[in-house]
Amino acid sequence: MMLKMAKMHSLTALLALGTLQTATAHTVAWARGMYCLGGPDITSENLNTNTAVDPLYNLTQSDWWFQHHRGCDAVPPAEGDILELPAGGSFTVELAHNRAFTTLSYDGEFTTEWPDGEEHPEDWNGTSEGEGCFEDDGALHTTNQTGAAGTAWAISYTSELAEVTMENLVVFSVLEHTPWKRLATYEVPQGLPACPKGGCTCAWLWVPKGCGQPNIYMAGYKCNVTDVTSTKQLAPAQPPVYCEDDSSKCVAGAKQMIAWNQATGNNIEAPAGKTPMYNEVCGFKNGM
Ligand SMILES: *[C@@H]1O[C@H](CO)[C@@H](O)[C@H](O)[C@H]1NC(C)=O
Ligand SMILES: *[C@@H]1O[C@H](CO)[C@@H](O)[C@H](O)[C@H]1NC(C)=O
Ligand SMILES: *[C@@H]1O[C@H](CO)[C@@H](O)[C@H](O)[C@H]1NC(C)=O
Ligand SMILES: *[C@@H]1O[C@H](CO)[C@@H](O)[C@H](O)[C@H]1NC(C)=O
Repeated sequence: MMLKMAKMHSLTALLALGTLQTATAHTVAWARGMYCLGGPDITSENLNTNTAVDPLYNLTQSDWWFQHHRGCDAVPPAEGDILELPAGGSFTVELAHNRAFTTLSYDGEFTTEWPDGEEHPEDWNGTSEGEGCFEDDGALHTTNQTGAAGTAWAISYTSELAEVTMENLVVFSVLEHTPWKRLATYEVPQGLPACPKGGCTCAWLWVPKGCGQPNIYMAGYKCNVTDVTSTKQLAPAQPPVYCEDDSSKCVAGAKQMIAWNQATGNNIEAPAGKTPMYNEVCGFKNGM
């Protein structure tokens, strides 16, 4: 009986996954500690959810902020689940189009090295397809690994998501040329101080470079800094500045996330046809 149920479970999952191999899929960082891990319905646990992967576009700030408009900010992680950030070390998350393609579902049965649960060559690229973007995988919003814009993490020293602001949410780690493969390892600065008793609140961030709607990504996590040696508070975050042509314009210290192409709450402007991203064009350096 148990076996039969398990088999049916897999079959149902496979059928559902079959419908996900489309250009409508996107990417988020999956990890214990994330909001919306089991989908937006707090009363049920969905192993096959992609609610948290969807991008944010042309929304009011109260709606895009931690994916409020789809209810994700109201679905905190399970008691005790928290993303650990070892100061001076690193942490690994899974970048994927659906929870089903991570080790957080089905014992990892549907995972590969890639975010879509499929096999691909190392030099996977979209050069033979259309304008060079991946047509069967718009989720990566790129033509090849070199073109991947970079993703980032920010931290706020409050345990309450409702107390996070643009000023107290500071970008602390950037991983260049991502999203690309499923596993992504981000460095943690030695200088992060300890979180309050209930932990900190973190966000995973991405602004893709073209290849589709010019949107942004923001997902929420409960997080906690471990191996702490510093007691120095982080400075209030300043809005980043697009500085591709003049590095003297880049904001040097603590930077806010990029809020762009939303109905309200935008904090950056880019020259026509340019995209503000978590890389050197906005003064974000790889690492921390
Ligand atoms: C943004 O949303 C507003 C209404 O909420 C709509 O009028 C406008 O056309 C949208 N803009 C874009 C570029 O989609
Ligand atoms: C693009 O992918 C194809 C198929 O794997 C490969 O033959 C080609 O060398 C790749 N091109 C680049 C520029 O990596
Ligand atoms: C990767 O994509 C960029 C555009 O994003 C393009 O300029 C470059 O030639 C591509 N490189 C390879 C190796 O295909
Ligand atoms: C955060 O990490 C510190 C140091 O390991 C630990 O003492 C504390 O209990 C953790 N807090 C939470 C909420 O997990």
